[in-house]
Amino acid sequence: MTIHNNIDIKKYTTFGVTATAKRLVEYESVDDLRRYFASNPPSEGFYVIGGGSNILFSGNYHGTLLHPVSKGISVVSDDKHGITVRAEAGEVWDDFVGRCVAGGWYGLENLSFIPGTVGASAVQNIGAYGAEAKDFIESVEVYDPLSDSCRVLTNDQCAFGYRTSIFKQKRHLIVVAVSYRLCRTFTPHLGYANLRERVEAAGTPTALSVRQTVTAVRSEKLPDPAVTGSGGSFFKNPVVDAGLADRLSALYPQMPRYDADGGVKIPAGWLIEQAGWKGYRHGDAGVYPKQALVLVNYGSATGKEVADLAARVAEDVKMKFGIELVPEIIIL
Ligand code: EPU
Repeated sequence: MTIHNNIDIKKYTTFGVTATAKRLVEYESVDDLRRYFASNPPSEGFYVIGGGSNILFSGNYHGTLLHPVSKGISVVSDDKHGITVRAEAGEVWDDFVGRCVAGGWYGLENLSFIPGTVGASAVQNIGAYGAEAKDFIESVEVYDPLSDSCRVLTNDQCAFGYRTSIFKQKRHLIVVAVSYRLCRTFTPHLGYANLRERVEAAGTPTALSVRQTVTAVRSEKLPDPAVTGSGGSFFKNPVVDAGLADRLSALYPQMPRYDADGGVKIPAGWLIEQAGWKGYRHGDAGVYPKQALVLVNYGSATGKEVADLAARVAEDVKMKFGIELVPEIIIL
């Protein structure tokens, strides 16, 4: 365990904005957490950050950040129905997906090249190209510092939803490891036309060709955090009632729309682009020119500048379309 006081946390988040944290604790195990909380009661407050790819610090952080650096991937069970693979929360998500594909453990290939950690994959229920982490999560191991105990939550107990889970409400539950149930036989999931065309152009689909194509598509559309700061999609795609969606479709016949639980999902990226923000830049804060759902830091933007831009975009979309955009990014 390493404890840093008054530390610059720029390199701990993909937005790359300058901020300091009063304390940042890198921990490797539940034993480390136990030792830490033995002298720093959880009532003092804490926040867990994984790869920092879904967080924007709008100023300095005056509390404690916990950052898992635990590593380990192991096969828990392997039978004719499938394989269960357990990964520690601190594993880099895309390394884990790569290991699964190489091992012939299939299912996660559509989720390739998503930044972040294995722990965050469960908290956030990450998703892309028709797949979500929850489709494969068997169970999640957590440590609860309030009761100093470990628990295993089954998939049903995790209350997964679109980019959400129980771990977003019960912030005191610290994800320690996630077990994924994967398949021994590969079945391509190519519902996204754009992905299907590119995968099929490369020959008979394999898990590796899907992984390589998803990686290529994401690299083309999304900024590389090593070059341009960002947190991926800034907003969630809103679900609106069918009446509003129909009125908008009459005005904008080309508007993409998808049936969703409770209404119609409209891509936030499309709304932001229509509102005229795609490629907008103010100082070093901007709306990414290739994907309007992504806000970027071109170098020296502050977290507040990015958060202010997000608020302006959301306000404008609300005025023009009557739709509330809710951030997917957590602003601290
Ligand atoms: N669109 C535009 N303009 C834009 C961006 C998108 O018109 O600037 C339109 C596209 O033409 C398309 C539709 O919006 O018709 C959807 O776009 P896309 O397929 O790029 O996906 P998205 O809805 O913008 C979501 C996820 C992404 C994930 C992709 C692919 C959310 C909030 N975002 O984006 O996840 O990679 O689908 O499955 O659900 C992330 O969460 O950080 C993330 C990158």
